Amino acid sequence: MDIFKITGPVRLEGEITVGGSKNSALPIIAASLLTAGKSTLRGIPNLSDIAVMCKLLEDMGCKTVADNGDIAIDATTIYKPIGDYEIVRKMRASICILGPLLARCGKVEVSMPGGCAIGYRPVDIHLRGLQELGAKIELRNGYICATANGGLKGANIFLGGAFGSSVLATANVLCAATLARGKTVIEYASCEPEITDLANCLVKMGAKITGIGSPQLIINGVKELKPVEHTVIPDRIEAGTFMAAAAITKGNLKIKNCRTDHLMAVINKLRSINIAVEETQDGCEVCSSGNIEPTDITTLPYPGFPTDLQAQFMAVLCLAKGNSIITEKIFPDRFMHVAELSRMAANLRKEGPHIIISGVEKLIAAPVMASDLRASAALVVAALAAHGETIVNRVYHIDRGYEKIEEKLNAVGAKIQRQSV
Ligand code: EPU
Repeated sequence: MDIFKITGPVRLEGEITVGGSKNSALPIIAASLLTAGKSTLRGIPNLSDIAVMCKLLEDMGCKTVADNGDIAIDATTIYKPIGDYEIVRKMRASICILGPLLARCGKVEVSMPGGCAIGYRPVDIHLRGLQELGAKIELRNGYICATANGGLKGANIFLGGAFGSSVLATANVLCAATLARGKTVIEYASCEPEITDLANCLVKMGAKITGIGSPQLIINGVKELKPVEHTVIPDRIEAGTFMAAAAITKGNLKIKNCRTDHLMAVINKLRSINIAVEETQDGCEVCSSGNIEPTDITTLPYPGFPTDLQAQFMAVLCLAKGNSIITEKIFPDRFMHVAELSRMAANLRKEGPHIIISGVEKLIAAPVMASDLRASAALVVAALAAHGETIVNRVYHIDRGYEKIEEKLNAVGAKIQRQSV
């Protein structure tokens, strides 16, 4: 198991390049199951979550070849449309094979995702959406077993849940609807850029979709789709994590391959806390020259402030000149980083789904434990500014979503050493 030894404080300066989006790549790889033949996906980050998704496809008979950011997927043969427990338990996003396999094979079994460090994560919206397309669904031995004898049939589907739209439920129902008979209208679809990327990829495959990017997706089912070549969008969460790193280190980072239009809520927040953000030709320059001002942040579905950047921005606000409040409205229990940041001398208090952050003069290095992907990113961000040597344990969490983060950050002034223990 690897650890990071991070020496701080440092000031980050220079150019840093964002990779392809993990959360776009995962449902798009799953969508390649919708058609026989060979698809080529480009800009795919080299991450353990991507490897798990490819393993899942290979386990059912597909062939995948990864080569320097490209993944070639030959989904001609699917001899068992099954998402096995041993693979699915490693990654919840495995659930996004459900819609594509149901549409292509008329049946699918996927192990029901289990517990998750960021809180209770039900899949009822996925199942409700597919049932409305005519699927019969039962739970057997921990597996979601779905069948669509006679095929799926278009429907008007309201996909909202208690916390708003669902990203991967939208992906599943959208994929399934592309091959359903007739017209499907999805109301309260997720508007996240990753869903827009998926929809654009499906259109290239021959799907008929309108309303892309809006909460109402209209899909006219087609008989079949064709293989595709598609480049995924840049990872807005990796970009936002670099923005947080620039802010906390009073640094100056030119962030390349960054879609600023996907990060408006984040850029707006940075400006309001005294961090300058200038757009450049292929990204932006983030420059912090003075004090970090306190603020309030509420996470919301896109285009609101993303829950996947809540932890990293909490780290930044630990050093603000005053009190801030963060409210988590997507995953109300996504606060595993709070106790770890407190070990680094942050002053944090939890009040239900709110964290009250009293800014401190400095953070102090400590051994800390990564608990999930974004919480670990927050610990790395905090450690860049903390005095002394922070040890981040369980770095495998960060490897799920950030490709070579230590190399990228070290190239702009960080002092991060990876060690196997
Ligand atoms: N929800 C339900 N029922 C469902 C599905 C979701 O109640 O059937 C609730 C969730 O519990 C949550 C809210 O709806 O309260 C939104 O969850 P959503 O379904 O949108 O999350 P997801 O699709 O499972 C994706 C990302 C997450 C990201 C969330 C929110 C991928 C692979 N995962 O998850 O990314 O936090 O959307 O934006 O795209 C990460 O990358 O670290 C990560 C966790």
